[in-house]
Amino acid sequence: MIRIRRAQKSDAAAIGRVHVETWQATYAGLLPDALLAAMSDVRQSAWWQRLLADPGQARGVFVADDQEMGVVGFGSCGPVRDPPEGLDGTETRVGEVYTLYVEPDFQNIGLGRRLLDALFRQLRADGNDTAVLWMLADNPTRFFYEGMGGARCGERIDTMAGKDVEEVAYAWRNLDAPLIRRKLAAED
Ligand SMILES: CC(C)(COP(=O)(O)OP(=O)(O)OC[C@H]1O[C@@H](n2cnc3c(N)ncnc32)[C@H](O)[C@@H]1OP(=O)(O)O)[C@@H](O)C(=O)NCCC(=O)NCCS
Repeated sequence: MIRIRRAQKSDAAAIGRVHVETWQATYAGLLPDALLAAMSDVRQSAWWQRLLADPGQARGVFVADDQEMGVVGFGSCGPVRDPPEGLDGTETRVGEVYTLYVEPDFQNIGLGRRLLDALFRQLRADGNDTAVLWMLADNPTRFFYEGMGGARCGERIDTMAGKDVEEVAYAWRNLDAPLIRRKLAAED
């Protein structure tokens, strides 16, 4: 059984490990090798430890917790950091999904959808009516977000380890997320 729950401080080490593992598996060939090779479980865990020590930020972090394996996925959200140009100004409050990662062995069994649902619920509870997410333009998982009802709403160039990378933004203007709920209801 795999439960989606809010992260606790004691999850920092596990989240850090999954973070490094999924980045190295997902971004090989998309991000500079030097950046991926330099990632370390210890540093990444320390970063999550600091974030989870702040209750304001910790409330936006969720994990997929497998009864036997522990944390196998995580996602985080909060206020928008860089609003995409495609927002039309009618939004009341905009939140952002900062991260969403599921370990390769646990992908395609519905955890990404369940984590995204938890993040949308949190953003809605915090008064947001819109959510955005930035991702690498070349990341094939953009089809996942399109399947979840996200609409392309912006582009930017980011610099990572000295290399320019293209990113695209997706937006959800209905955080009831009917596409997610309908599927979850059908699975119950
Ligand atoms: C993207 C990711 C979070 C999706 O999580 P997941 O648990 O594998 O996805 P789910 O099992 O919940 O899939 C839900 C639906 O999306 C589809 N889907 C999943 N990954 C997909 C992909 N890469 N391309 C197209 N569709 C995809 C599934 O087939 C499923 O479709 P269905 O509704 O017809 O059943 C996960 O694959 C992942 O961590 N990938 C690597 C890291 C990454 O790129 N993260 C995003 C960075 S912003």
